[in-house]
Amino acid sequence: MAITFDTSLKRFLLKTKNSEYAFSIVYDKFLKHDFYGKNKEEIKVPYYSFSPYVENSDPWYSLADNMSEFAFFGSGDFRCSSLRMRGKNGDSCTYFEYRGYEIFDGRKNIPGIPFSRAQEDTETLAVELFDDLNQCKLTLYYTVFPEYDIISRYFTIENMGECEVKLEKAMCINLDLPGHSYDMLSLYGLHPYERSVQRVPLFHGNQRVMSRRGASSHQMNPFIAILDRDATENNGEVFGFNFVYSGCFLDEVEVDHAGNTRVGIGLGDENFAYTVEPGRCFNSPEAIMIYSSNGLGEMSRKMHAFIRAAIVPKEVFAQRPVVLNTWEACYFDINEEILLGFAKEGIQYGMDMLVMDDGWFGKRNNERAGLGDWYTNLEKLPDGLRNFACKVKETGMKFGIWIEPEMVNPDSDLYRAHPDWCLVCKGRKGSLSREQLVLDLCNPEVLEYLKKTFRQTFADVPIDYIKWDFNRHLSEVGSPYLPPKQQDEVFYRFQLGVYELYDWFIHEYPNVMIENCSGGGGRYDLAMMALSTQIWTSDNTLGPDRVKIQYGSSIAYPAYVMSCHVSDPELHEGFLERLKYKYHVALGGMLGYELNILKTKQEIKDEIKSQIVFYRKVEDLIKRGDLYRLISPFENEQEISAYYYKTSSETSEKNERILLSFLQNKGTREKKEILLQVAVSEKDAIYMDEISGEEFKGSELITGIAITTSEKNEFSKMWLFTKKE
Ligand code: DGJ
Repeated sequence: MAITFDTSLKRFLLKTKNSEYAFSIVYDKFLKHDFYGKNKEEIKVPYYSFSPYVENSDPWYSLADNMSEFAFFGSGDFRCSSLRMRGKNGDSCTYFEYRGYEIFDGRKNIPGIPFSRAQEDTETLAVELFDDLNQCKLTLYYTVFPEYDIISRYFTIENMGECEVKLEKAMCINLDLPGHSYDMLSLYGLHPYERSVQRVPLFHGNQRVMSRRGASSHQMNPFIAILDRDATENNGEVFGFNFVYSGCFLDEVEVDHAGNTRVGIGLGDENFAYTVEPGRCFNSPEAIMIYSSNGLGEMSRKMHAFIRAAIVPKEVFAQRPVVLNTWEACYFDINEEILLGFAKEGIQYGMDMLVMDDGWFGKRNNERAGLGDWYTNLEKLPDGLRNFACKVKETGMKFGIWIEPEMVNPDSDLYRAHPDWCLVCKGRKGSLSREQLVLDLCNPEVLEYLKKTFRQTFADVPIDYIKWDFNRHLSEVGSPYLPPKQQDEVFYRFQLGVYELYDWFIHEYPNVMIENCSGGGGRYDLAMMALSTQIWTSDNTLGPDRVKIQYGSSIAYPAYVMSCHVSDPELHEGFLERLKYKYHVALGGMLGYELNILKTKQEIKDEIKSQIVFYRKVEDLIKRGDLYRLISPFENEQEISAYYYKTSSETSEKNERILLSFLQNKGTREKKEILLQVAVSEKDAIYMDEISGEEFKGSELITGIAITTSEKNEFSKMWLFTKKE
C-alpha cells in the first residue's frame, strides 16, 4: 500500500520506493505537513511574536509558522500562498477546513488538461476541505508513483454556493522543507540557447522562476530542483519539481522568518485568474515532485523513466524515424521537384521520413504572409497535397508536414476575413512578433474553424508525422470573444484551447507521430511531452551550443523526447570532422538531418549512411537506457561534456551495453588527461568497444578510460562497450 492513514496520529503517509511523505490533520481542521524524503524528523516550530492564531483554536498554533500542506491567502500565513480566492464578500480570505478523505487505486482524469498516466502500482489520496462562508469544496489529489519516487498533486474547487468566486492565485504543489541550507537549480535561456544550468544558494526572502509569456518558454523552464548545498551528481538529497502545463507558470521558493523553506509550483498570480460560477468546478493542472538521496544523476534517471512510462504517448513507429527536414536546407523555397529529389536521395542513405517544413500552404513565401491559410500552395505543389504525399511515399520515405495552428499573419485570407479572431486588448493594437498574431483560442468558433480546415486539407493525405510549431509569445492578451470581466482569464483559457486542438489532432490522426516545436525548444515541458512523441530541442544546430542545450535539457528530460538534427557541415573547413562532431552531439537524443541532400558532397552522404546504421544499433540504448552524466559543460573552460547511456530494465539488449560520449567544445594548449569512469556491473567481465574493437576489463572501465583533451575545437570521441558472454 503506497498510501495509508494512521487514525491515532491522524496522519497520512505516502510511500514511494525510496521516500516518505507525511502530513497530519491538526485540531481537526488544518493540514500540517510533517516530512518528505528520508529524513522523518519533525520540526518543532516555536511560537513567534506577531504570529496570529485562529480564533477558538490553540493560541500557540499559528498558521504563520507551522508547516502546511496548502497555504491560504489572508488567513494568517504570511508566507507565499497556494490559493488566493476572492469570495462572495469581495475579500480574498479563505479558511478551508478538513472534511474527509478517500484513497483509491489509479488516478482520476483531469478534464481538458494533460496529466501523467497511472501505472500498475499508482494510488491516489483525495483530501477534502471546505470553506463554509463561500460554500466551496477544495479537493487535493495526491497521486503516488512508487516505482519512480514521484508524487503528483493537483486540486479542484467546486463552487457549491450561490455566488461566483474568483481564483487569483493557484499553486498545485506546496512543500514546506525544514531549514534553508539548500541550492536551487533552474534551467534558463533564450531562443536559441535553451536550458542553461543555473545553481544558486537560497536566500532569505522570495525567489521566483516563472514565465509570463503564454508558453512555458525558452527563457525559464518549469523544472526546478532544491538540493542540499553539497549535493553532487551522485550524492546528496535532491527534491525535483515540475509542472504538467505549457502556459505561464510560477515556481516560487521562499525562505521564511523561521529559516524554513517553502516551495510552490503552479499557475501563479500574475498571469492567471479564473471565475468559478455556482455549480461549476475548476480543475488545476498537475505538478510533480520527486525525491532522490543519491544526487542529481539519480533524480534525472528516475524522472526520465517516469516521463517515458507515464507522460509521453505510446510510440507510433517501432523505430523512431530518421527525418530529413527541409527547413535549414530550403527555408520557404520549396517545391515538388526539390522535395521529391530530397526523398529519393534521402532514402538511399538510410533516412526514412521527409518532413516538409514551413512554406507549403497559402502565400507562404516568407514569414510575412500566409499563416492561417491552411490550404495547399498549388504553385509549389501543383498536383495537390495528397498526390504529392503519395509520390513521397512511393520513394519509400514516410511523409511529415509542418503546421502552426495557433497563429495568423495579418497578411492572410484568414485575418482579412476574421480580424476579430486574434488575441488583442480592446482599443489597442496587437504587437507583432515574427510578423504574426495569435489566434483567440478562447473562442470556440476559432477552434471549430481550425479543425474543419485541417480536416479538409489533410483529407486522404497519407501523413505520418506532424511538426507542430509555435513561433511567438503572447502579448496584449485579451479575447474579443470573452466579456470584460473574464479578460484576466485569457492566458489560462487560451491554454485550454491549445490542449483541445492537440486532443482533436491526436484523435483525428491516431497513427500520426507529433513532434512539438516552438522556435526550437520553447515549449519543452511535460504537458507538450504528454501530447507529442518528441520535441525539437532547439533551432540552434551548432555543435558546441547543442552540447550545452542538450546537457541542460537532460537534467529534467529524457533523450527519448529530444529531437536532434545534424545540419549542414559543409559551410566550414574540415567538414568531415565537423560532421562527426555534430553527429556525436546529436546522438544525445533522437537523430535526424537538416541539409540540402541534393547538393551534399558524396563523402558526406556516405558518412551519413554509416552514421544511420550505427544509430540504429544504439537507438534503443539512447532512448530507454539510463543516463549517467560525468562532466558538465557548464563547469569547465573547454565546455567539455561527458556522459553515457547504459542498458536499463527497459532496453531490449541481452548483454550489458554502454554508449560513452566525450565532447570538447573548445580546444586547449594545455593538454590534460581525464578519466571517464564507467560503472559497469561486472569488474571481471570483458567489455568490447564495438567502435575500435579494443577490449577492456570491467575493473578498467570502473577505474576510468583515459582521454587526453585536444588543442582542437569541437573534438569528440565515442565508445560502445558490450559485455562479452
Ligand atoms: C521555427 C522552427 O523551430 C524551425 O525548425 C522551423 O520549423 C521554422 N520555425 C519554420 O518557420
